[in-house]
Amino acid sequence: MSSMWILAVVFPTNVYKQRHDRLETSSRPGDCSGFIMIVLGIESSCDETAAAVVDSGTRILSSVVASQVAVHHPYGGVVPELASRKHIEAIVTVVNQAIVESGVGQDHIDGVAVTQGPGLVGALLVGFSFAKAYAHGRGLPWVGVNHLEGHMNSVFLGDNSLPFPYVALLVSGGHTSIYHVTSHIGYEQMGQTLDDAAGEAFDKVSKMLGLGYPGGGVIDRMATQGDPEKIPFPRTYLEKSGFDFSFSGIKTAVKRYIMTHEDTYADEIPDIAAGFQEAVVEVLTYKLIRAAQTKACNHVALVGGVAANSRLRGCLTDMAAKAGMQVYIPAIELCGDNAAMVAAVGYHYLNAGARARLDDDV
Ligand code: KG4
Ligand code: ZN
Repeated sequence: MSSMWILAVVFPTNVYKQRHDRLETSSRPGDCSGFIMIVLGIESSCDETAAAVVDSGTRILSSVVASQVAVHHPYGGVVPELASRKHIEAIVTVVNQAIVESGVGQDHIDGVAVTQGPGLVGALLVGFSFAKAYAHGRGLPWVGVNHLEGHMNSVFLGDNSLPFPYVALLVSGGHTSIYHVTSHIGYEQMGQTLDDAAGEAFDKVSKMLGLGYPGGGVIDRMATQGDPEKIPFPRTYLEKSGFDFSFSGIKTAVKRYIMTHEDTYADEIPDIAAGFQEAVVEVLTYKLIRAAQTKACNHVALVGGVAANSRLRGCLTDMAAKAGMQVYIPAIELCGDNAAMVAAVGYHYLNAGARARLDDDV
């Protein structure tokens, strides 16, 4: 914490500005090609403080994630003010650990990428200010990246074989969208949720069932003990030919079920979890496969925190095989928020010449 604020105090803004202008017009000493390979990624958009060192946008040299789940758990959701404070406490240690574990040493880091948004502003500011100070302190090029583009690039970590174009379903706590992806940094949104994100629905249903926060993992585990067909919850397709989603209806349906079965629902929690999960998974899978068919694409990717869901992974794998498509899903630990994905997308932006400015903000 202290070094970040010390940097901010020691160098007034105009000094920063001059250094930044120099950085934009000249390459680093000893850097002949200007090509950036080793990127330090930093992520602090919500309740994970994360740093990672990634080589060539694909090879993870280190990835450190400090989760704040225990801090927010008693409140049943993320408390923004607490999140910011915890990021400040953790950021220096997490970045140091990522650099040490990478084994490359600070002098071999070629650039820095940091999440600029979307996310909680106070939380984003911590990682962004740290990255700004770190990059300027060391004379490194740096770039602010979109968190969602990070998730989309998580599918290339450790496996660079997914060809363009492909269709991606991004399912997280804040977003549920389908994209036609044409390059690491080029994509077109085909649809999105009109209300709640799928992850948000998992979290809210978990809360209603008294299973705590965050809800995705616990619903996933609970559902394995239940019968997904016992309680048929509604599938909201909206227009079946379109790619938008809506998850507020199913959330209300679960709430109504709990209210109308007040005396018995406690014995049915695994069935409620399984029925809810099945309804969400069916809609997500159907729309992703249809979107890929519309674009005549036979490669699909599943990314974001909800991509860790075992039923979704299994169902999509089966449906895609039937449709003759190949599926790419990151390893479970790369589905949730992490900084390796930030470094991965940052690598492509930095090599395309993108540079953040000193007066950039979250
Ligand atoms: O991508 P992420 O880590 O953060 C955001 O960018 O939002 O996604 C977090 C979301 C939470 O809503 C969490 O409940 C959900 O991902 N999640 C899951 C599972 N693991 C995490 N949802 C369903 N099944 C899971 N196994
Ligand atoms: Zn995320």
